This record gives sequence, structure tokens and C-alpha cells, in this order.
Amino acid sequence: MIRLLSLLNFVAVWFHNSKARRFVECEESVKFTRNAFVYNHGDKKNIKLGSHVLIDGIIECYEKGELIVGDFSYIGRARVFAAHCVDIGKGVYISDGVVVMDSDLHPISGRKRYDDLVAWRRDGVFPDVYTDIIYKKTVLADFVWVGANVSILKGVTIGEGAIIAAGSVVTKDVEAWTIVGGNPAKLIREIPEHER
Ligand SMILES: CC(C)(COP(=O)(O)OP(=O)(O)OC[C@H]1O[C@@H](n2cnc3c(N)ncnc32)[C@H](O)[C@@H]1OP(=O)(O)O)[C@@H](O)C(=O)NCCC(=O)NCCS
Repeated sequence: MIRLLSLLNFVAVWFHNSKARRFVECEESVKFTRNAFVYNHGDKKNIKLGSHVLIDGIIECYEKGELIVGDFSYIGRARVFAAHCVDIGKGVYISDGVVVMDSDLHPISGRKRYDDLVAWRRDGVFPDVYTDIIYKKTVLADFVWVGANVSILKGVTIGEGAIIAAGSVVTKDVEAWTIVGGNPAKLIREIPEHER
């Protein structure tokens, strides 16, 4: 019985991985857990995952978006939105509950947001994430660690090896090898050479 269950689990994971791989450019060493989900509203080449990447959350890439994830990076039960460009380096840890974005995804105008919702929910027209919406490239450099429940907003560059403390909202660039935290995230301390 246990053997049968593990065989069924193996088949389910294999099936889930093959399905997810259809929407991204990646090699066999990349793994998607059963919780992972890929929404690619554009071309397969818009999402490039490096070797040994592990995805446990949701990656969402729009028509004109680009999402790059470097080798050995891990995306927990987070959600990454790429409408323009999200560039994640190698060896990056993204914990559960994190949101990474390169755009606000909705316009400031309440009327337009309402029209988008009506068009989407009533007429089946997916909301336009490009008209009247600001988008700016977001970068997480190599070896960054993003703690649980962090929001990283559009246009932010997080420098190499930086750590974002749990629950932070990152609205501005973060220097390499520093720890930042809070809302909006502020410098907690620098990471000295011997701790890097
Ligand atoms: C970033 C982190 C690792 C730093 O740990 P640390 O170096 O031991 O930091 P400390 O606990 O000594 O705190 C240092 C200062 O930062 C502040 N701080 C720590 N975490 C903070 C947070 N999430 N938000 C705001 N401020 C924070 C502390 O209040 C303290 O301030 P003070 O010097 O004024 O007293 C830790 O704060 C953290 O966020 N851990 C959670 C990691 C996580 O999410 N893991 C999920 C699994 S991958």
C-alpha cells in the first residue's frame, strides 16, 4: 500500500513538473513542487530558470515580461510577478509569503480598476497590466536572502548577499551585504567581511 502511494506521488510530481516545464525555459535539474504554479501569459522564453532552481510558489509572467532566476535559487511559497523584468541572481533564498513585483499591476484610477474587474469577471477579458501602469525592473542580486512575508516593490535593486528581515516592505534599493528590515525597510546593520 505504502509503495503504491509513493509510486502515485512520484507519478503526480513527475506529471506536475512536465506540465510546469512546458511554460518555462529550463533544464532537467530544475524542480517544481506540487504546490508550485507557473502562469505564463506570454512566450515560454520569457521565463528562464537556471540549473537546480527549486520552485515551491507561484511565478507569473505577463506578455511583455521577463523573469530570470539564477542557478541554485529557491522560491518558497511566494509569488513573483514579472510584467516588465524581474532578475533574480544565483543562490537566492525567497521565503514563504514573499511577493516580488516590477509593477503595480493596477492603475491608480479607481474607475479604470473597476472597468478592468468588470471586463475580467463578466466578459472574460484578462486585465490590461500595461496601460497607465508604472513598471520598473526589479533585481535581487546573487546570495540575497528574503525573509518570510516580505514585499519587494517595483524598481528595487537588492545588492549581493543582502538580507531582508521578515515582514519588511522594500521600497528602495538595498546595499550589498547589509541587513534591512521594517516598513519601509531601513538599514539594521552591515554584514562584516567575516560573516559573508
Ligand atoms: C534578518 C534576521 C535574520 C536578522 O537577525 P539578527 O541579526 O539576529 O537580528 P536581531 O534579532 O539581533 O535584530 C537586530 C535589530 O533589527 C531589528 N529587527 C530584527 N528583525 C526585524 C524585522 N523583521 N523587522 C524590523 N526590524 C527587525 C531588531 O528589532 C533589532 O533592532 P534594535 O537593534 O534596535 O534592537 C532576522 O531579523 C529575521 O528576519 N529572521 C527571520 C528569517 C526568516 O524569515 N526566515 C524564514 C525561513 S527562510
